[in-house]
Amino acid sequence: MAHDDSALTRRQILAGAGGTGLLAAAGPLTILGSARPPRAASGSGGAADGTPEQIHLTWGADPASSVTVSWASPGQATGTRVHLSRGGGFGRTVRAIQRSYTDGINGETVWTYHAQITGLAPETEYSYTVTADNDSSPEPFAATFRTAPAGRAPFRFTSFGDLATPNTQWVLSYGQSAYAVGAVESFKPLFHLLNGDLCYADLNPASQPDVWQDFGNNNQSSAANRAWMPCPGNHEVEFDNGPQGFTSYLTRYLLPDNGLLWFRGRWYSFQVGSVLFISLDADDVVFQDAGAFVAGPAALTPVASTGNPAIEPGTSFCIRGYSGGAQTAWLERTLAAARSDPSIDWIIAQMHQIACSSSATGNGSDLGIRQEWLPLFDRYQVDLVLNGHDHDYERSFPCRGFDSMVGTEVATGQPVQTLRPHPVTTDDTGVFDTSRGTVHLVLGCGGTDANLDDYGLDKADGLPQAKVFTHPNRPEETSTPDVYARAAADAVEDATWSARRDTSTGYGIAVFDVDPGAPGGMTSIAVTQYHAAGADPVNPATGAPGAPTPNYTEFETFTLVRPRSDRPGGARTSEASPATA
Ligand SMILES: [Fe+2]
Repeated sequence: MAHDDSALTRRQILAGAGGTGLLAAAGPLTILGSARPPRAASGSGGAADGTPEQIHLTWGADPASSVTVSWASPGQATGTRVHLSRGGGFGRTVRAIQRSYTDGINGETVWTYHAQITGLAPETEYSYTVTADNDSSPEPFAATFRTAPAGRAPFRFTSFGDLATPNTQWVLSYGQSAYAVGAVESFKPLFHLLNGDLCYADLNPASQPDVWQDFGNNNQSSAANRAWMPCPGNHEVEFDNGPQGFTSYLTRYLLPDNGLLWFRGRWYSFQVGSVLFISLDADDVVFQDAGAFVAGPAALTPVASTGNPAIEPGTSFCIRGYSGGAQTAWLERTLAAARSDPSIDWIIAQMHQIACSSSATGNGSDLGIRQEWLPLFDRYQVDLVLNGHDHDYERSFPCRGFDSMVGTEVATGQPVQTLRPHPVTTDDTGVFDTSRGTVHLVLGCGGTDANLDDYGLDKADGLPQAKVFTHPNRPEETSTPDVYARAAADAVEDATWSARRDTSTGYGIAVFDVDPGAPGGMTSIAVTQYHAAGADPVNPATGAPGAPTPNYTEFETFTLVRPRSDRPGGARTSEASPATA
């Protein structure tokens, strides 16, 4: 489907291309130096500035005993270290490792540091400082964190994706991203899940390190106090930054090891209490092409020092299938081990792109996830899937199996296979047994300037309608020479799985309170979606203009329940995914 790009609104570009069509649509790109103090280049003379910034925590392999403190500095730091103490005691010093890279587009070198702390006591508060020999701040940065409990225990976590930065100089950035970080702090979770599309640096290709810097410094007010656990989204895929474009992401985050040398950091798991969290990279399985893209008419030309050639109009960085099945094989091994582990009750998956979304102005659903991973989620009773990608809030009913051949191809009106997830109930009681089906939550409601809380409707039957990608949508030239676009999803289906959609705002935060329950009984997770009503730049339902707001109020609350794994006779796995058509 060819578009006249000049006739597309910003919103249409975002919808059709996952927010990536903006890249070069505004005209020729000129790579200019940053307005802020330059980072020291590798090997340059003079004293580098090693002052820590963008400080953030992630869990180590075992959140009850290990935490990683990560940061960046404007120049190469020396003697980088974290000093850790507990209850006013002397404590210990942990040296950091250095990771750096040179951005493949603008040639800036980025320096990051990671102190991996192990041997901590569970459910314990620690104080720490971060410094370096060439730290120019008057006092070292200081903060506190708390380790996870050991064994079955109650805890709280929060989640959203699609955060961006508060610096509106950058494409897709918006003031709500600062309030969103404040919202995480206000709920004081043990940790936060950040579901991909962290800062959209790829949409600002001349300034990628600066966008990441604004993102990291915005998050620090929460992420220095509690772990923020990310997954990659399509906008972490950057030109000339590594085999999947993830070098910026992977340099900044040192994540739990998945044991796969070539794929470290792309996906991982960790356990807190009786919950196994599995973080996945859906870029590996989705049909939609939404990573870095040069729309044209100008090429994107990296600075000469990078040695990288111009990237021609119509080029997109599509990484579908990059792991060659390694991720899905790891996922199955991890799920099988979890469902035979008596210490695990819940399995919660985090990924950016979505199996179940009915946003009309957003991307919609993707058959790739449904084909590759939903059969495993069915077999191993994954309880909950947390997504980003569409900048709104949507909850599914518990789903198991699929309805076959109920999609419609947009171009022809012919039936098409979308493997539509089958709801095991459409009674919205507010309490759902997820041992019977998986609940999907779209939480792309972090802080971008492009709310997508406009949802599909099948006018013929009045039911919610979802767009579904069933084929790749590689760039095609539009009617404007040398200008390319990626088409919207190619199919639609009645979204019988859709339970609740927030039409009042595209901004919010989900809060999860895990109750481990009693031995041999049931366990529950109370979920509340808080939303920032009035934050939409323009609400699609009412046309009302809005502005960023710090006020997050309750939108809805519901409870997930399931039998504990120590309940006699409790089912641990289900039959292979049934077709129910
Ligand atoms: Fe996305």
